[in-house]
Amino acid sequence: MEPILIAGIVTVNLALVTYGIGIVTEQRSRRITKKVLRFLQVGVVLDIIATSFMIIGSGQGLSLHGYIGFSALAAMLSELIVAWRHRASHGSAEVPRWLHRWSRLTYGWWCVAYVAGAALVMGG
Ligand code: HEM
Repeated sequence: MEPILIAGIVTVNLALVTYGIGIVTEQRSRRITKKVLRFLQVGVVLDIIATSFMIIGSGQGLSLHGYIGFSALAAMLSELIVAWRHRASHGSAEVPRWLHRWSRLTYGWWCVAYVAGAALVMGG
């Protein structure tokens, strides 16, 4: 396997943990704390790096995993933006129900992309 692809896989694992901490913290507290925002920000940066590495490493067009991966990255970016806006206008007030659900939904979808990537590697 290309070293850049391996670097992509290592980075995506860091993103999994970083997003995970951010989302679990939000799900428990129902608030967009500084910690939540910081972990989501770092997660998106790691996700962008990982996706870029995978695109370079794959050297071909998008596969099904690629499409799911892209949409998952877009979903997490939307989550970061809504979290950011909530924090900017409401501080650490409790999040509305839709935002609480959106956090869970976007991270769930991102995990689907993650599993699709892992299946790709295990399937050879
Ligand atoms: C949600 C996280 C992930 C995103 C956003 C993502 C995104 C991408 C993208 C955009 C590509 C390039 C286009 C393509 O080949 O379709 C790609 C390729 C690839 N990804 Fe991921 N990926 C993720 C997770 C993973 C994981 C967890 C693994 C393995 C453990 C993985 C392994 C691979 C491999 C091996 C390729 C190259 C496929 C090939 O050359 O046929 N990905 N990924």
